[in-house]
Amino acid sequence: MDKIFVVDDEIYTLEFFSELLSNEFEVYKFKSPIDALSKMDKIYPDLVISDNLMPEMSGSEFLDIMNSEYPDITFIMMTAYGSIDAAVEAIKKGAFDFITKPFDNIDELLIKIKKSIENSKLKTNLKILQDNINELFGISNIIAKSKKMEDLLSVVKKISMINSNILIFGESGTGKELIARAIHNLSPRKNNRFLAINCAAIPETLEESLFFGYEKGAFTGANSNKKGYFEEANNGTIFLDEIGEASINLQAKLLRVIQERTVKRVGSSESINVDVRIISATNRDLLKEVEAKQFRNDLYYRINVITIKIPPLRERLEDIPYLVDFFIKKYCKEFNKGEIKVSSDFMKALYSHSWPGNVRELENLIERAVAFVDGDILKVDLINDQIFGDIVDGVNIDSYKNAKEKFEAEYLRKLLLVSNNNITTASKIAGIDPATIHRKINRYKNG
Ligand SMILES: Nc1ncnc2c1ncn2[C@@H]1O[C@H](COP(=O)(O)OP(=O)(O)OP(=O)(O)O)[C@@H](O)[C@H]1O
Ligand SMILES: [Mg+2]
Repeated sequence: MDKIFVVDDEIYTLEFFSELLSNEFEVYKFKSPIDALSKMDKIYPDLVISDNLMPEMSGSEFLDIMNSEYPDITFIMMTAYGSIDAAVEAIKKGAFDFITKPFDNIDELLIKIKKSIENSKLKTNLKILQDNINELFGISNIIAKSKKMEDLLSVVKKISMINSNILIFGESGTGKELIARAIHNLSPRKNNRFLAINCAAIPETLEESLFFGYEKGAFTGANSNKKGYFEEANNGTIFLDEIGEASINLQAKLLRVIQERTVKRVGSSESINVDVRIISATNRDLLKEVEAKQFRNDLYYRINVITIKIPPLRERLEDIPYLVDFFIKKYCKEFNKGEIKVSSDFMKALYSHSWPGNVRELENLIERAVAFVDGDILKVDLINDQIFGDIVDGVNIDSYKNAKEKFEAEYLRKLLLVSNNNITTASKIAGIDPATIHRKINRYKNG
């Protein structure tokens, strides 16, 4: 039942409300605001109905205290018939409503009370929602027990308050998007949008209209005006994921937005102001791409005012038990399972794996293990064939053939970067004939 405090020095008013409301609400009666305040923390009512003129403390002073100490509790002021000034003052101070004594229209009175209870529910729901969102995307959902991650989080907290563009670097699955969202949610922009765009997923022909919008009639199919990503994210944050994949054309356009802080929709000559913080992410070595002229030098320095490097999971094994615990709880809740523990051989296997897919790989593994486990202990046989096919006695070793292929693929990638994709140059650097290089490139491209 919703709880209502009624505060009045006149006993018959207290009795009146008690009789009127006791069927539907839990009613608490107080002869003075002081008494009511002494029970506020313990009972925490949904609504306070208070008289204005009382000897020990006036309703108006009571309202002041409520506003500063209990801003979430809805307040209704009772005023004597005809004292409009007092009613107006109460509303100005933040009372939700006022009612006048004597009460001749009981229906109206009940409607006011029910409305104010609804109002207090909305307020609480909104708060819960906000807390959930903060929890989802704030910092509390980031596991960072290793020194490396602790240091990283303290940087994240600092830079969230300033507006500089940030480049997040990290292997696949290390938590780049998670960190970007945390920066946004800790920043003064948190009540505006966080828009995540995967630059690798946008066809070159659509880039301009998606990022900058278009005017009706700008091209066939443009049936109405449309805002682009930058306008959508105005006053918020845009997350440019896989920025290394942006085409040369898009790179030039992004540079212009950053320099001029305006966008032009396709088919329009009007410049629209935009205030957007840019957080970019990549799993490539962008500086190498700059050297190889695949990525614009000037854009690189514009988006990379601050760099955050998220270390791969294999370099912070201390985080593993905490991540495991976190993901087990998450998936137990999701799959409606009771408490689940891990065996020591399971844990040992996790420590010996090299985690090429980083935290995402670990999360997926725990999700599967929790889904498939019979009983309440995760044992190593749950994961052996799933990803540890290559484990022999707990030692993680690749076959010679696999290891050689991985090395060759990585070598070729670097070779082509430094030789600017020129096979003749590459052949000279590597000391292998051009035909062999050609053959190997094709092999790794298709494999
Ligand atoms: N430190 C962490 N604490 C808790 N969860 C994490 C952590 N790091 C990553 N995760 C979780 O791992 C998953 C992958 O994270 P995210 O998508 O942010 O990685 P990413 O670096 O953007 O990956 P990709 O390069 O594949 O896009 C998400 O479900 C994320 O919530
Ligand atoms: Mg990502």
